[in-house]
Amino acid sequence: MTAKPITLGISCFYHDAAAALVSNGEVIACAQEERFTRRKYDPSFPMNSILYCLEEAEIQPSDLDTVVFYDHPALEFDRLINSYLAVAPRGLKSWLTSMPRWISQKLHIPSIIRESLGYDGPILFMPHHLAHAASAFYPSPYDEAAILTVDGVGEWATASYGVGKGSEVRILKEMHFPDSLGLLYSAFTYFCGFKVNSGEYKLMGLAPYGEPKYVGLIKEHIATIRDDGSVALNLEYFGFLDRLEMTSPRFEQIFGGPRRMPESHITRREMDLAASIQAFTEEALLKMARWVHSQTHQKYLCLAGGVALNCVANGRILREGPFEDLWIQPAASDAGGALGAALAVQFGHHGVKREASNGFDRQKGSYLGPAFSQNEIEAFLQVRGYPYRHLQENERAVTVAKALADGHIVGFFSGRMEYGPRALGSRSILGNPLREDTQRIMNLKIKYRESFRPFAPAVLAERVNDYFELDRSSPYMLLVAPVQKARCLPRSGGIPEDGDLLAVVSQKRSDIPAVTHYDYSARIQTVHKETNPLFYEVIKRFEELTGCAVVVNTSFNVRGEPIICTPEDAYRCFARTEIEYLYLEGFWLDKRDQPHVEEKKDWKKEFVLD
Ligand SMILES: [Fe+2]
Repeated sequence: MTAKPITLGISCFYHDAAAALVSNGEVIACAQEERFTRRKYDPSFPMNSILYCLEEAEIQPSDLDTVVFYDHPALEFDRLINSYLAVAPRGLKSWLTSMPRWISQKLHIPSIIRESLGYDGPILFMPHHLAHAASAFYPSPYDEAAILTVDGVGEWATASYGVGKGSEVRILKEMHFPDSLGLLYSAFTYFCGFKVNSGEYKLMGLAPYGEPKYVGLIKEHIATIRDDGSVALNLEYFGFLDRLEMTSPRFEQIFGGPRRMPESHITRREMDLAASIQAFTEEALLKMARWVHSQTHQKYLCLAGGVALNCVANGRILREGPFEDLWIQPAASDAGGALGAALAVQFGHHGVKREASNGFDRQKGSYLGPAFSQNEIEAFLQVRGYPYRHLQENERAVTVAKALADGHIVGFFSGRMEYGPRALGSRSILGNPLREDTQRIMNLKIKYRESFRPFAPAVLAERVNDYFELDRSSPYMLLVAPVQKARCLPRSGGIPEDGDLLAVVSQKRSDIPAVTHYDYSARIQTVHKETNPLFYEVIKRFEELTGCAVVVNTSFNVRGEPIICTPEDAYRCFARTEIEYLYLEGFWLDKRDQPHVEEKKDWKKEFVLD
């Protein structure tokens, strides 16, 4: 064993490629490739992310002890070929479309790694769900805990559970393809006109507007839930085995016609379908959690896999499930596989000892990406000639807070970029939650996206229970909980027959209207002094000015664009949208002072809609 082994984890060639660097059990750096290439969910070999990780650790590829890939191509090949044989010759078209690319990438991973990095050390492959499980347990604050991973599919497994103790993670059981809760949710995502592997979040956001009236139909025809929470799919309703679609014509028959076309009007049917599959998913996950508890007798549960991003279900597992507490990996989907694989190699292969918990998690707030120094930023602003004001240290939080209190929208760029899909106050757009029009303005004039989706409240950690029915931290925006009843207002009307959600969104539902969803819930981020002192201070100052310890936090990007990474990305987004002020690591930019830049009218087409 090397004295202080350094491991690079890589996930790519499926969705949202990423790299992670772990040294002697400590997470040093993680980043998703999309942030560098500006292609959302970029699956390509994460060369930029790898170079960033090496730079952050100030090492060369030759300093790495191991490089590990987040899944096992041979096992995946086994699943792909067996799936094809099960439906042959029906799936020939899909096979011929996907196989050549798959072989050229996945089967050549070792040579791609060696040639790209000039690296000649060991290369390991980590079973996909073990990588998810490791990403869930090792960074958690627990010395021992149960682990549950649920996703679409990785090799054969679609869900797994196990136990983590000290430096060891053990998988006890797996659920196998094609039975998959993740694929089932994705099939409904597709049918409701959203993109698979990204639109699931929108479907979850749509669910509160609907009635779960199709749950009976789903259980009768499409999928059943066993006592242990595993699901059994009726493959006659799906298309992913033998064609290039998620659902089959039978799916259309029972749900009254063809799927909703992307970007078309959302009708009551989609709202009810969203509510139904969400209810089905919550029931399955709650059963899984109860089963895992009965098998492991652990107090705590760690979650990962794409389905663990379903923060509504996570909230229910916490409130109604048998565990005392949960920890959810913020990069829960495959991007987090890079970190999980690297951690599993450190503790499982290199024999690093995992230190006993001090009560905090080891994810460092997930602020694991690149930061930019004030010198770099000032040089950028001067070269471009952008007017700015340098803020003294004691002016920073109060300047941002005052702009928010006055009702302005602020782009906030501070510290290391977040790892995982949520912006947590390093690359965020902030707004005032007290104003009724904040949600509408942020959606339509800044994010350029559908109006029905709620924004997240970022709340001072110690004040969370004053606003929400939640008595613990939720630092990664992965728990949804009700807004405190005393803050809520009676509903002023239902959803109009024509399904116009814009009218509904602008109804005031609580005294923090911009972050209160239609069902009076909120997707909470607790902000902690220890992990993000400046963001914490901004909210503290905002509270002094307004009496409210909550700000609106949404990711710093427009629709279809990856979250910004560099000061240049930040300025571009600031200049193009109606963001009024930009806080750039100690510098303050007022939109009114900025030079007018003639933009191409169709700049939004740079990004593929997500
Ligand atoms: Fe996965």
